[in-house]
Amino acid sequence: MLRVNFVSSLDGAVAVDGLSAGLSGEEDKKQFRLLRRDCDALLVGAGTFRAENYRPLTLDAQRRAWRLENGLTEYPRLVVVSRSLNLDPNHPALAQAPVRPIILTPSEGAVAGADTIRFTTLAQGLEKLAALGLQHVLCEGGPYLFGALTGEDLVDEMYLTLSPLLAGPGSGRIIEGTPHEPRRMRLVHANAAEDGTLLLKYERQRGS
Ligand SMILES: NC(=O)c1ccc[n+]([C@@H]2O[C@H](COP(=O)([O-])OP(=O)(O)OC[C@H]3O[C@@H](n4cnc5c(N)ncnc54)[C@H](OP(=O)(O)O)[C@@H]3O)[C@@H](O)[C@H]2O)c1
Repeated sequence: MLRVNFVSSLDGAVAVDGLSAGLSGEEDKKQFRLLRRDCDALLVGAGTFRAENYRPLTLDAQRRAWRLENGLTEYPRLVVVSRSLNLDPNHPALAQAPVRPIILTPSEGAVAGADTIRFTTLAQGLEKLAALGLQHVLCEGGPYLFGALTGEDLVDEMYLTLSPLLAGPGSGRIIEGTPHEPRRMRLVHANAAEDGTLLLKYERQRGS
């Protein structure tokens, strides 16, 4: 099961000054933490991993206890998708990861301190993760990885937070890459928070 989580401004920006932090308020952060609590693996594109301040996926004691009570491992596993393998093995999110991270790559080579899983298609990559017990995957982006995943029609659920903000011109969308046919989604819920943030959940409506 692949779940994707993004935050966007009302005018569709994926970032403010190159980071998602300018879009994210308390309600989005709450959801972000809950989604991380619930996944077996956290999937992220190397561009986002390099741009955003990724920290070791330690989670707080409450979320770790919840995971253990609900039959999950204590920590989710970090999976970084990269073609170039241009990833610093000393990056804290890799070097201090509570569980050995995984680099998912179509390329030859490796990153010190991480396991390597090679894929030809992302579908195959996800199957390999599932074979390791990492079935419930949360993807936190970014836009190119999201575009590649929708290209292969792999997204089952989409969490989208609309931030009450017009970011203005300059930023890209939450999806980039090679064009493909539209994928129809079905609204599961829409929650409006008091600060004007809209929290949306959609699921893939297959066969249409
Ligand atoms: N608003 C939000 O919720 C949100 C979420 C995430 C990111 N963002 C924003 O998005 C921006 C960064 O995104 P980005 O443009 O760099 O996109 P990205 O998708 O995070 O990263 C692209 C890189 O990921 C790797 N990658 C992606 N798809 C791949 C595939 N199919 N096969 C192999 N490798 C693949 C490649 O890494 P290599 O270069 O190592 O080969 C590629 O260059 C930042 O501004 C960030 O703040 C916003």
